[in-house]
This record gives sequence, C-alpha cells and structure tokens, in this order.
Amino acid sequence: MRIDILTILPELLEGPFSASIMKRAQEKGHVEIHVHNIRDYASGKHKNVDDYQYGGGAGMVMMIEPISSVINELKAARNYDEIIYMTPDGEILEQAACNDFSLMKNIMILCGHYKGVDERIREHFITREISIGSYVLSGGELGAAVLVDSVVRLIPGVLNDETSALTDSFQDNLLSPPVYTRPEEYNGWKVPGVLLSGNFAKIEQWREEKAIERTKERRPDLLK
Ligand code: ADE
Repeated sequence: MRIDILTILPELLEGPFSASIMKRAQEKGHVEIHVHNIRDYASGKHKNVDDYQYGGGAGMVMMIEPISSVINELKAARNYDEIIYMTPDGEILEQAACNDFSLMKNIMILCGHYKGVDERIREHFITREISIGSYVLSGGELGAAVLVDSVVRLIPGVLNDETSALTDSFQDNLLSPPVYTRPEEYNGWKVPGVLLSGNFAKIEQWREEKAIERTKERRPDLLK
C-alpha cells in the first residue's frame, strides 16, 4: 500500500510513523508513506499557501493552486483509490472504514489548516472527508496520523500475530475483554481463576461474556 500525505507542517508527521508497528510496517515493505510539503508547490517570493477569504471574516483559507499542483503531480503517476480530506465536518472515522482503506492500493490524505481549504478543492479533487471526532484540532495532521495508524495495522502481515487485529475492540462490534499478566496476585488483587485454569473452551467463553458485558455497560450503541 502507498499513502501520500499533503501538509504545510510535515514536521508534525515525523514522529508517529518512525517507531514501533508503523516503522516496522514500512521496513518490511507493507506500506510506503510519503509526506509532501504543500509549500514546496507554492509560487512567488513568499511561497504563500493561504489567503484572506472572499466575503470577509476572520481566518485564512488554503489556496487552490499549490494543493492542486501536488494532487495533479501524484495523480499523473498512479491511480488513487481515495483522496481523503481531514476535516471536523467529515464522516466520523469508524473501524469499518479502516478495514476498507486497509485493502486499498494508493490513498492520498490532505491535511487542512486555518479555516480549511478553498471549497473547490473539496468539490473537484476530494473523494472522501474524514473526521476523527467531534472536536476541532489545529490542523488535519494529527487526524491523518490517527487514520494511517488505524489502517496500516490492519494490512495483512503488519502485526506479528495476525489474529491480534481480528480480536481488537470494534472488529465484531464488541469491546475487548479485560487482560492480565504476571504476577498472579498483586497487593491482594487476583487474576480471575478461569484464566489460570488451562481450560481453553472455558477461557474463550469467559472472554466472550466479559466482552459483551463491557460493551453493554460502555457502548450499548454497538450492540444495536
Ligand atoms: N481537522 C481539524 N479537526 C479535525 C478533526 N476532528 N478530524 C479530522 N481533521 C480535523
């Protein structure tokens, strides 16, 4: 899979992909992540990427030209399954969409800033608009990092134990059951006996019950 991210703040995306699972996924060749600085495509002495909005009002708007230059250059080189715009008024990111994205070959992600991008970019280039939650971030970069992380870990082969992505919370509309590790007892707090029983059928049954119980308690909306 190839992911191209368009941003005016590439330094915000240096950390999230350079450690742990995201780093290994790139090293093993499961994903290529390319970050493009939109300012490199801006013209003029000042390399402006934003301007005042027509009609007046506070806040700058990201201009069409530099963004369309990057998008057109990338589109000329390959086909994109989706060109995604990160925005608080997009569809809220859910696991089902992450699963869909993880099967795609090439995706492009545009990060907005200030008041957002000129609406014509959204009308003519963007195929999908994604929000990571009902709150406003300073820009789309952290949202893009969340989206990429949630998608890349689902690419077959990225996680060592393939089943571990399948047993994630949300994969079957259930939250995950509680987990425990050594010591067996700490401060008088004991690990549930069934997990030490060695009876795998019983353990599976216990985990399923706990997953349902937890989902009923915390996210009853998932059970509908
Ligand atoms: N940009 C600003 N806020 C955002 C959000 N909640 N999700 C995605 N992109 C954003």
